[in-house]
Amino acid sequence: MQHLITTSDFTKEEILKIFDDAKIFLDMESSQVLKGKVIVNLFFENSTRTRSAFEMAAKRLGAQVISLDVGTSSTSKGETIFDTVMNINAMGPDAIVIRHSDCNFHRTLVDYVNCPIINAGAGKTAHPTQALLDLFTIREHFNGEVEGKKVAIIGDVKSSRVAGSNKKLLPRFGMEVCFVAPDCFKYETDEFKQYNKISDVIDEVDVVMSLRTQLERHNEVYFQSLNEYAVDYCITKENMQDRDIILLHPGPVNRNVDISDEMLLDPRSKVLEQVRNGVAVRMAVLKKLVLKQ
Ligand code: CP
Repeated sequence: MQHLITTSDFTKEEILKIFDDAKIFLDMESSQVLKGKVIVNLFFENSTRTRSAFEMAAKRLGAQVISLDVGTSSTSKGETIFDTVMNINAMGPDAIVIRHSDCNFHRTLVDYVNCPIINAGAGKTAHPTQALLDLFTIREHFNGEVEGKKVAIIGDVKSSRVAGSNKKLLPRFGMEVCFVAPDCFKYETDEFKQYNKISDVIDEVDVVMSLRTQLERHNEVYFQSLNEYAVDYCITKENMQDRDIILLHPGPVNRNVDISDEMLLDPRSKVLEQVRNGVAVRMAVLKKLVLKQ
């Protein structure tokens, strides 16, 4: 059975087929291809976009959705998260969508379930459907011609599962990824080019991807305030100049810390387009995994 734990679970051909389907779903009000199926959402971390997008995607395909309220579930009585998933699995759902802070949790489930597991965010490491919708958004903008495009991922890269998934996915499609971050947020590896300042890369890149500073994943205080961080890393009209770039952000955006109010309104900002595309891409992922096509 196929699962989606990281983007490498799909071949390039499978991803391109997902994008073809997503393009069709973008223009479709609804479909009944998953009529009679039941999708369960288990979000052990907060979410607005991913959880709602999976719910909307499943409903637009005619499936029913159960979103367990983890806060009032029996995990509060001591039931382990593994047992929680096993009990949900025993009810016979057609897919289980899971977000959890443990990077390895999703992979440990696959030998024990009877339906696809879809990773909706795993700790600091992987957010495959976000990376797929990011790539879809980039491809849509460049009419599929993404080979050789350069992407600067800016901000708290070390704590970001979005960066974690994109740094693996985008190069598979011929794109070059670099990072811009203060030293405290950089990767401790030479595998990718890493820069200190936006001005070091802005003349060379086609895509700017801003990230949220993930205070909840930090073990120490790196900045006295986010305003101090924003002085160098907030995306503004000034530091984007008149460059012909597109601006992405996975959300939630910390306004005037990650991206200025003004830049969010700039036509180069594709932040809400990403959200819209996220429903269509997740429809295509659900269709593929549930119907095993
Ligand atoms: N992009 C993203 O994962 O947003 P949420 O945390 O709101 O789901």
